[in-house]
Amino acid sequence: MRKLLFLITILVASLSACNKAVVEAGYDIIPLPQKIEVVEKEPFVLDPQATISYDANNKGVANVAGFLTGYIEQAVGYKLSHTSVQENSLKKTILLKINKDIQHREGYRLEIDSAGITIEGADEAGLFYGVQTLRKSIPVASKETAVIFPAATIDDYPRFGYRGMHLDVSRHFWTVDFIKRYIDILALHNINKFHMHLTEDQGWRVEIKSYPKLTEVGSKRKETIKGFITGEYDNTPHGGYYTQEELKDIVQYAAQRYIEVIPEVDLPGHMLAALASYPELGCTGGPYEVATKWGIFPDVLCGGNEKTYEFLEKVFTEIFEIFPSQYIHIGGDECPKIRWKECRKCQAKIKALGLTDDKDYSKESKLQSYMTHRLEKFISSHGRKLVGWDEIIEGGLAPNATVMSWRGEKGGRIAAQMGRDVIMTPNSHLYFDYYQTENTMTEPPAFPETNTMEEVYNFDPIPSGLTEAEAKHIIGVQANLWVEQIKEESHVEYMTLPRLAALAEIQWQNGGDKDYPGFLKRLERLIALYDMYGYNFSVAAFEPNAGFIEDAEKKELKVGLSTPDNADIFYTLDGSLPTLKSKRYAEPVLLEGKGTIKAQAFRNNKLIDNNLYVQDYTVNKATFKNVELLTEVSRYFRPPAGKAVLTDGRRGNDCHVFSYTTTWLGFGGKMVAVVDLGEEQEISSVVVGTLLVPNSKGAKYTISVSNDGKEYTEAFSEHKPFNALDDLQADVKNTRARYVKVEITADNYAHVLVDEIIIE
Ligand code: ACM
Ligand code: ZN
Repeated sequence: MRKLLFLITILVASLSACNKAVVEAGYDIIPLPQKIEVVEKEPFVLDPQATISYDANNKGVANVAGFLTGYIEQAVGYKLSHTSVQENSLKKTILLKINKDIQHREGYRLEIDSAGITIEGADEAGLFYGVQTLRKSIPVASKETAVIFPAATIDDYPRFGYRGMHLDVSRHFWTVDFIKRYIDILALHNINKFHMHLTEDQGWRVEIKSYPKLTEVGSKRKETIKGFITGEYDNTPHGGYYTQEELKDIVQYAAQRYIEVIPEVDLPGHMLAALASYPELGCTGGPYEVATKWGIFPDVLCGGNEKTYEFLEKVFTEIFEIFPSQYIHIGGDECPKIRWKECRKCQAKIKALGLTDDKDYSKESKLQSYMTHRLEKFISSHGRKLVGWDEIIEGGLAPNATVMSWRGEKGGRIAAQMGRDVIMTPNSHLYFDYYQTENTMTEPPAFPETNTMEEVYNFDPIPSGLTEAEAKHIIGVQANLWVEQIKEESHVEYMTLPRLAALAEIQWQNGGDKDYPGFLKRLERLIALYDMYGYNFSVAAFEPNAGFIEDAEKKELKVGLSTPDNADIFYTLDGSLPTLKSKRYAEPVLLEGKGTIKAQAFRNNKLIDNNLYVQDYTVNKATFKNVELLTEVSRYFRPPAGKAVLTDGRRGNDCHVFSYTTTWLGFGGKMVAVVDLGEEQEISSVVVGTLLVPNSKGAKYTISVSNDGKEYTEAFSEHKPFNALDDLQADVKNTRARYVKVEITADNYAHVLVDEIIIE
């Protein structure tokens, strides 16, 4: 190693002497190659005299050579000329070729020494990944630099053959140009499957010539709800669809990057846009409307009407024509059976098929299973494979169906145990529409759950408890990006990056020892590339993590701050932005009274410097005191810490979707909570931090007090008009109490969320 450093030092010195800027390549990339062997030989120097050499008669290799030329030009500003393999006696060449002796599909071998770089792919895709590795090893440097590649041999191949990323193009529509940019981003991460979620309640986005109204009617909605459950609408039509020609262009663009586009037509649920277009396909006959809000709708395709099956076969026939993919996704998720239970046609079909309820599944679930089986036959007869969300297991899994396990790992485990292929895409780890940090205060809107990059990185795609043979059925891993809350292209990129890097790592790298700090270090190199390409990415993973320390005895609330890579942290308690002149964090910080802690990590590298941590706090008479709830917590707003969040001293975040599960406790219509102050004492005010959903006009608050927990006296009562996020301020001067009861009754039984009860 010493000798190598010496060689490189000499080289850098001599190149610098002739006034050439030089940078050194590094193979600490993402995903990390399976095997890197740096050897003690002279390095390769890339400069404008180098060439790219390949057999021009091989179209696939020429395709990859084109990408390499472009990547190098983007990175260092010079365009290498191409030479044929015959001219390859010349030094300084990057030689590209296929080597059938490489065992793993999509594998490659990279050999670097002073004479040149050889990239050999097991196949074209493998060659492409070798080029990706080379591309990612070049530091983002000023133009016209020479790049020194340390001599090395890299042997690499992917762990999983299916490495997917999904995009919902239905809740919001994305342009063809943006889809191509997204595909470029996937290619940078060695992803080889792009799952396009083409149809939804809120919009049908694929042209189907035999059913033109699907796009004429179904691609447009008249307006869109704000947030998730606000009851407020934006009054703005939204629409768009892809013509078959545009989709074929997307398919071809992806194929050039060795990515297969997998189309999803989600059925029999999530079909309101289709029903609005062809109401005869629903159980009631309509009328239906393209959905303007989110969620799960009772109206679904009628499972008893032969017209439905004719519709599906015709739609899929056109889908097959557009998408040559091996997999065809039929959705299958979230299909309520309310209409089917009441529909004459559905019930007649159930009877004709002899379906009955059993202890596991209703006859209506079995009707969905019948639909899936029928489609599976149809899809298989066209030489394709059916894939569906894990609900397709219910009522009996069709033969040859591949399962996407999204509701955690359970579906994946069951299907693998049945000997069926599985793609792991659990919402517990791989839903990129979820926040990427608990610190949502400074985040754009997201689904009210969190999947941090560290959780993505640490996810083991093989569910526990599988035998080796069963584990072989886990053929791949995918993350999903649903876009209810995402309207801007830059926001898609923000939710995707850099979690996609962690996804790429678990898709490609063989398990092994996890090293998150090491991964973050490698990420800096990749993030520099994101910057170079102008991709919008999140730096949440670099912000300080907070651990709260609650000492009820000492009545102390402290916060410990850390980053995975031990960066220096500076903080303030006065609301100002932390700078290098603020207090440097050394030990847990005592939080007293009321205020806001802001903290920021600083690294030598100024690249990542806008990662702000923010938390409001209030330490008061109620803090750490026991709370008793007399109403039930809503299942939608149930933070892990439970009722303790009401007196933990931490204020809830001002979030966008009126729910954030770690700080807000939610109730359906009514909350009654009693705080036990431990002993009778004088109190003067009660503040209740509240979020109300706007379809409520307001809420009635009552504060009553007691010394024995039995007899209560009313101390305050008021109907407060709606104001989404607000503190109730109840003046209860000169009151003595041990027990303080807070009752909130929301108008219209709307959800009411509370983050804190503050007693002074
Ligand atoms: C899903 O997230 N409904 C598959
Ligand atoms: Zn029906």
